[in-house]
Formats: sequence, structure tokens, C-alpha cells
Amino acid sequence: MTKDNDKAPVSVIGLGRLGAALAAAFLANGHPTTVWNRTPAKAAPLAAKGATVAGSVAEAVAASPLVLIVVLDHAAARALLEPAADDLRGRTLLNVSSSAPDDIRALARWATGHGADYLDAAVMAVPQAIGTPDAQVLFSGSTTAFERYGEQLGILGSTRYLADDPGVAELYSLGLLSAAYGTLFGFVHGTALLDSAQVKPTEFLGLAVPWLNGMLAFLPALAGEIERGDYTGGESSLEINLQALEWIEAASRGAGVDPGFILPTLDLVRQRLTVAKPTDSVAGVFEVMRGNS
Ligand SMILES: NC(=O)c1ccc[n+]([C@@H]2O[C@H](COP(=O)([O-])OP(=O)(O)OC[C@H]3O[C@@H](n4cnc5c(N)ncnc54)[C@H](OP(=O)(O)O)[C@@H]3O)[C@@H](O)[C@H]2O)c1
Repeated sequence: MTKDNDKAPVSVIGLGRLGAALAAAFLANGHPTTVWNRTPAKAAPLAAKGATVAGSVAEAVAASPLVLIVVLDHAAARALLEPAADDLRGRTLLNVSSSAPDDIRALARWATGHGADYLDAAVMAVPQAIGTPDAQVLFSGSTTAFERYGEQLGILGSTRYLADDPGVAELYSLGLLSAAYGTLFGFVHGTALLDSAQVKPTEFLGLAVPWLNGMLAFLPALAGEIERGDYTGGESSLEINLQALEWIEAASRGAGVDPGFILPTLDLVRQRLTVAKPTDSVAGVFEVMRGNS
């Protein structure tokens, strides 16, 4: 590998699956890369690719103006960085460790309190996709830091800066995961229902995929209704969805399938019906979720 001297140095603390992939991407793009990991053996494959292995977190922080931390969560990140806090001054800390948005905000306050510029990244990809456009990497936090390092970080995947509130990237990540979980666990529940009639999961899949693709086309209508706060005359009414949800519950119980997946949604629709008309849009459950009705 050839090293390009005008590429900015970067440090990566935490060499689990994701941290190792990020460090490898920087190395592959010619960035002088310093690495550190709690379990030192994980640094060896990166050292073989040209990484400098730091002897401590403080040494890794001191080695580069841009310091990535990619460990279990905010608490592990903070515990590792605490002894190196004074070395953070004047550097950019890019936290890639996932956590709840409020914990990310607290980590950001701590880092900026020690004179660092704080940027947060939420990686919406598996480590194998790092370095390809399939890896979506969402950023929030210091605008200055993203202006300075955005281009360099572009080697990691398709990057997008969202907001100066450091918790927002993680909030997007959790919102996207919530949308995915609804679909994934709903598919598993549907598979269990069909299994009661000896339909194989792969047979069900043949209808599920085009159906779900069609449902995605319904999202802009829902988003528009929620944004306008107008749930009259929507595309899918509360009453029709209540009926379908009750049938799913009954069919589940009848087939000996746990209806647990569907019950909270049924409850939300019933709550909404205490204040809304049966013909109003099902998108109005947003107001129940936000505690507005
Ligand atoms: N993998 C993914 O697909 C993916 C995608 C998006 C976001 N993320 C997020 O990225 C972060 C890292 O994920 P990963 O997949 O790389 O996890 P991983 O393979 O399990 O690696 C975890 C890393 O954190 C370190 N670590 C854990 N607890 C620690 C502690 N108390 N003190 C010091 N170091 C500690 C581990 O060190 P040791 O090697 O010494 O155990 C290792 O470097 C997580 O927050 C995860 O949610 C992961």
C-alpha cells in the first residue's frame, strides 16, 4: 500500500467488527491511521496493513486531529476517554458508538467541555459494506467538524450531515430501525400464522415481498397527513384497520399463534378511536404516540 502524505492522520479507538472496518477503509485510502483496542490482538491485522498501534488511549488521541471512538456504547467510550480528556483539546472526537440520544448528548457535552469538537455518527450498515455507497453514515454535532472532515469521511460510504444537535443522528438511526423492526417482526408473525396451514416461509415470501414493496408507496401519504395534522379523509381509515387488526388477533389465537406482536398496535388504534372519528385516517395514531390525544 502506498501512503499519501497529504492525507490527514486519523485515530480509531475500538477495533471490534465496525471499528476494524472503519480503520481498514482509512488505511486503504492512504490515511496515516493510528489504532488502539482494549484487547490488543485485534490491532494485529491492521498493523499488517500499515496502521500504527498506540500503546494507550491517550497516545491514540494525541496522534491525530480526528479521533474516532467505536466501542460498545457511550459509557464505554467515556470510561476509555476519561484518562485522556486533556489530550482531546483542539481535536475532533467522532463517536461512532451507539447509545440513546440523551446519552450521546451528555457525551458531547463532556467532550466539548474538554475543548474537543464533537461529531456523532450513526452507521446504517454492516461492517462489510463500509467503503461502499451502500453504507449510509449519518452525522450530527459540530458543523465546523463536518465541514473540516466531511470529505475525508466520505470514503466510508454515503454520508449525510443532519443537524448540530449531536443526538439527532442516533435518533434517525433508531427511527429507521423501528420502521424496519415493524416490518421484520411483522413478517415473522405472518410466517407463524401461515405455518399453521403448512405454508412454508419461502412460499409466503413470494407474496410478502411485492406486498411490502407496495406498502412502502403508502408512506408519503402517511407522512403528509401527519405533517399537516389533518387526519380527515385519509387513505386508510381507523375503522377498517381496527377490523383487520382484530381479525389478525382472532386468527392468531385460533391458530395457536402468539398475537403479542399485533396487540400494542390494536391498543393504539383503540385509543385513537376514543377521540377521533372511525373514518379518520389511521395515521392519527401518531398523536397517541406523541401523547397529544
Ligand atoms: N457491527 C455493526 O453492524 C454496527 C453497525 C452500526 C453501528 N454499530 C455500533 O458500533 C459500535 C461497535 O460495534 P461493533 O460491531 O464493532 O461491536 P463489537 O464487534 O462487539 O466490538 C465492540 C468493541 O467495543 C470494545 N468494548 C466493548 N466494551 C468495552 C469496554 N467496556 N471498554 C473498552 N472497550 C470496550 C471491544 O473491545 P474488545 O475487543 O477488547 O472486546 C470492541 O473493540 C456499537 O455501539 C454498535 O452498536 C455496529
